[in-house]
Amino acid sequence: MTHAAQPQPQPLPVPAAVGELYDRLTLNAMNDGAFNPNVHIGYWDTPDSDASIEEAMDRLTDVFIDRLGADGSSHVLDLGCGVGGPALRVVAHTGARVTGISVSKEQIRTADRLAAEAEVADRAVFQHGDAMKLPFADESFDAVMALESMCHMPDRQQVLTEACRVLVPGGRIVLTDVFERAPRKEARHPGIDKFCRGLMATMADIDDYVALLHRSGLRLRGILDITEQTALRTGQELAKSAAVEDRPAALDESNFPFSEDAFHPSDLAGVDAFGCLLVIAERP
Ligand SMILES: C[S@@+](CC[C@H](N)C(=O)[O-])C[C@H]1O[C@@H](n2cnc3c(N)ncnc32)[C@H](O)[C@@H]1O
Repeated sequence: MTHAAQPQPQPLPVPAAVGELYDRLTLNAMNDGAFNPNVHIGYWDTPDSDASIEEAMDRLTDVFIDRLGADGSSHVLDLGCGVGGPALRVVAHTGARVTGISVSKEQIRTADRLAAEAEVADRAVFQHGDAMKLPFADESFDAVMALESMCHMPDRQQVLTEACRVLVPGGRIVLTDVFERAPRKEARHPGIDKFCRGLMATMADIDDYVALLHRSGLRLRGILDITEQTALRTGQELAKSAAVEDRPAALDESNFPFSEDAFHPSDLAGVDAFGCLLVIAERP
């Protein structure tokens, strides 16, 4: 008789420590000339798309914009806003006002500077804060986005419940999350393990996602496996660009030099089990 492997317990990320990690990543990227306003993977619409990694990163933000339903009268909350690249793109493309929060003070300082340089500091506001406990009133946002940040938050249920609370009825949340595509084995893939340990992240349980949304008060609009368009292709592009000198500096492995067993992007190259989800839900 065979038994399904039991999921191994995942150490939970601690928001303050995640903030310090992103402080260091941000400073390192700036010191190395490797700064990139997007801190996320790319999205390629088709396997034969020849978009660069930078173009594909912007394209992933556009996938969010297409689904957020935001316009010039909207106020959008960006949970885990990084250094503000996606938020500034939402402002530029929709005219919406965006408030971004991050647990990294260094990222907030940088995002404020980029907003001022783009002359949109009145429409793009960034503040240090924890998505687990949002410092905002009920029903104060028309849409919420969480681009590659859920994996660092220790309790997805609490974050989604908070997101639902601050959304107006009918308001949407769009997010990406990471999950294991293949049935769990006794030991998870070493690349996934390194990702979780090195970047203080946990993998979502896709089987539980619909229930998670419902328990948070949200109505599911769509849930999509976008691994082929995102994580797998990003891995392929990194493998290709590692061979040439002018590879995108922000993705350079030297940006992850924190410990002996630090995560390197190449740890996930070709790891089919490392999945990426796109989730769209709304407050009823
Ligand atoms: C991979 S980066 C993505 C940044 C940004 N969304 C982007 O796409 O460029 C993850 C972000 O999540 C933020 N984050 C992680 N845990 C958080 C928490 N509990 N509350 C708020 N932000 C958090 C990090 O500080 C970082 O800005």
